[in-house]
This record gives sequence, C-alpha cells and structure tokens, in this order.
Amino acid sequence: MKSLFTTIMKDFEGYSIGKTLAYLGDPGIISFAGGLPSGDVFPVDIIQKAAEKSLKENWSQVLQYSPISGEKDLMQAIIDYLRKDNIHIKPENIMITTSGQHGLDLVGRLFLEPKDIIVTDLPTFGGALAAFEMQDAGYIAKDIEEDGSDVKGMEAGIEELLSLGKKPKFIYVIPDFQNPSGITISLEKRLALLSLSKKFNIPLVEDSPYRELRYMGEHLPSIYSLDKNEGNVIGLYTFSKILCPGIRVGFNIGPPEVIKKFSFIKGANILNTPKLNQDICTAFLKEYDLDAHFKKAVKYYNEKLNFFLETLEKNFPRDMGVKWTKPEGGLFLWITVPEGINTLDLFYMAIEEKVAFVPGEVFYPMRHQKHNTMRINFSYPTKDEIVEGVKRLSSVIKKYQTEKKA
Ligand SMILES: Cc1ncc(COP(=O)(O)O)c(C=O)c1O
Repeated sequence: MKSLFTTIMKDFEGYSIGKTLAYLGDPGIISFAGGLPSGDVFPVDIIQKAAEKSLKENWSQVLQYSPISGEKDLMQAIIDYLRKDNIHIKPENIMITTSGQHGLDLVGRLFLEPKDIIVTDLPTFGGALAAFEMQDAGYIAKDIEEDGSDVKGMEAGIEELLSLGKKPKFIYVIPDFQNPSGITISLEKRLALLSLSKKFNIPLVEDSPYRELRYMGEHLPSIYSLDKNEGNVIGLYTFSKILCPGIRVGFNIGPPEVIKKFSFIKGANILNTPKLNQDICTAFLKEYDLDAHFKKAVKYYNEKLNFFLETLEKNFPRDMGVKWTKPEGGLFLWITVPEGINTLDLFYMAIEEKVAFVPGEVFYPMRHQKHNTMRINFSYPTKDEIVEGVKRLSSVIKKYQTEKKA
C-alpha cells in the first residue's frame, strides 16, 4: 500500500520526540523528557464544577456539534483576557483551536506549498517543525542567541532568498521562554522581528504557550501587541500550560482574512472543538481567580527551576564543559554538552542508567542538525527525582566521555 501514500507520508517518520518518549515505559526511569505541566497546579475544582454545570444545564447543546470558529462566550472571555495583555481584538480576530498543535497545523496548511521557506530560530519547537514538515517546508534557520533571534542573520537569509527569486512565507518564533531553549526574546529583538515582518511583508507567527509562566525578570510586550492591530502578526495560544493539556483547547488570533481561512481549514479536518471543553475554559477565564492561580503556578515552577539549577551546579563541575540556559520562565532549560557527544547515543545510554531527556536534534530541521544538545523539563519531576536524575545524568556523560573519548 505504501506506494499509494503521498510523497511526504512515504518518508515521514512522525514527530521524533514521540520515538524517544516510547522508551519511557519503565517506571524506574526518571524523566526530564516530557513537556508536561505539573498536575499539582491543575485547577481541578473549577474544571469539575464547570463540566458539571455545563452538562447539567446545557447538555443538549454540549453534546451537539458546535460552531467551527468556537463558542461566542469563550471568544468574549478571551477578548477580555487579552485586553489585560494590551491586545485589543474582536471576535473576527479569533479562531478557537483544538490546542496549540492544531493552531500550528492551520498555519502550515494555510501558507505552505511544498518547498516553501519559513524563517525561524535554531533550535525551535519540534511540534512546529513536524506540522510544517507535513507541508514539506524548508527553512532559513539561525542559531538563537542569549537575547533571542539572530534577526540580522535572518534578514541576510531573507535577502539571499529574494535574490534567488523566492520569498519566505512567514517568520515563526516563541518569544517567551522558548520551547526548547528557555530563551526569551528581548524587547529590542521583538521590535526588530516586527520590522523584519513589515519590511519584507511576511507574517510573523508568534507562538505563546508559556507567556503567563514568568518567574523572574520584566514582563515584555507580545509582538502581537507591538503590531497594534496592523495585521502583521498571527498569535498562537493554548490552554495546555495555563490550565491543563488534556482539555485540548487553544486559539489563534490574527487579521480576519486569515481567521476566516483557518475556519475553512478547520471545517475540513477537525470541524469543531468540543463545547464541553470550551465551557470549562470560559469558566476558567471568567470565574476563576486567575491571579491567584498563576501566582501559585509561578511559585511552584520557580522553586523547581531554582532547585534544578542548583542541582546542576553541584553535579557538573566546570571542567566537564557542560553549559545550560537559565530561563526566566516556562518549563524547559537547554543543556549543551561538549561537541564530541552525540546526545541521541547518550540518550540510549541514559535510558540504561534510568534517566531520560530529549535529544536536541528533535528541535532542529533536517538540514540544520546539531547533536550535542538536550532539552530538560524541570517542572514535572519531584525534588528527589531531580537530585537523583541529575546525578545519573552527570555520571552517564562522564561514562560517555571515558568510553567514547569524547
Ligand atoms: C511552543 C509550543 N507550541 C505549541 C505547543 C502545542 O501545544 P498543545 O499541547 O496545546 O497542542 C507546545 C507544546 O508543548 C509548545 O511548546
């Protein structure tokens, strides 16, 4: 049957993080691999109350098909919620999605024809790469710097592509506590990215799942708000990290012409996002004490992050040549090991020592691979697991260096 598959699907091996996660069935493994928010901060009370209320009072609608673009109540709640973040939009600027990954898929399907080019950071979110690779995308991809995107490098890459008679389709960035690196794009670079988008007239796709999870430093304006509704930015949001991922609800915002097309695409694939789940999100935004909720989440994750960083300091003496980012928020940090170490090989050794991480190569497009990095999730493991897991990680790196003379 394979001969009948589309060209892309014949070779498409799936999102490679899935393959690494498949090794984690053994409960003895301490995993720093997933992207999981901690269940300890899920607001189970409001979720349960909202679900019961919605089913009891509105079951005939809840169990029906619902509008493709989303529930009006949820859209209004989102409009009010975003206003606090200096984003001023109307219902025609919003499309409810069935999570952030769906939002990315819609972007890929709307803009990309085979071999079209996207401008992005290296590394970047593997799920975005998977969504875009389904459309056979190519990349102008530049190493992310401590303060965010290499905007000058991106500009030079775009100029070069234009000189070949081709124009990239969009710029894709995760400005706040990027997955996977944990890096935040500075205000100067946010403005420079927006200028790039305007200069070349290509949309900027701003993916913001972690925006509320800032533990230190100054809150920076979103690129969407900096654009002041001029229509250059498409914003991608999800409830996965601020409420819970099981609910599978998110939203894309942008100019009406883009949102309308998103709804046509959604009509052809997912159709509608379950009303029950949308009602839960509406209750979360409208009835819950969001300030207290985020305060609790921020305190919880910040403690985990600091503890993880301290544990790394204790277990990785400088002469090991291991470096890591110090994120101001989000769920991930990024470790770079000496160049001779291939973290995919290291991953298999680590599994034997019962500790796991995500090999960095998952976060690089095919032609831009780097092999000496790894993503660490610090939010999910317990403190005891962090202590033991980091010890195991340190000893497995030493073992690799001795055995493979890396
Ligand atoms: C940057 C980024 N975008 C999108 C998503 C997908 O979010 P969701 O779980 O809502 O599909 C994630 C999830 O980890 C992410 O990190």
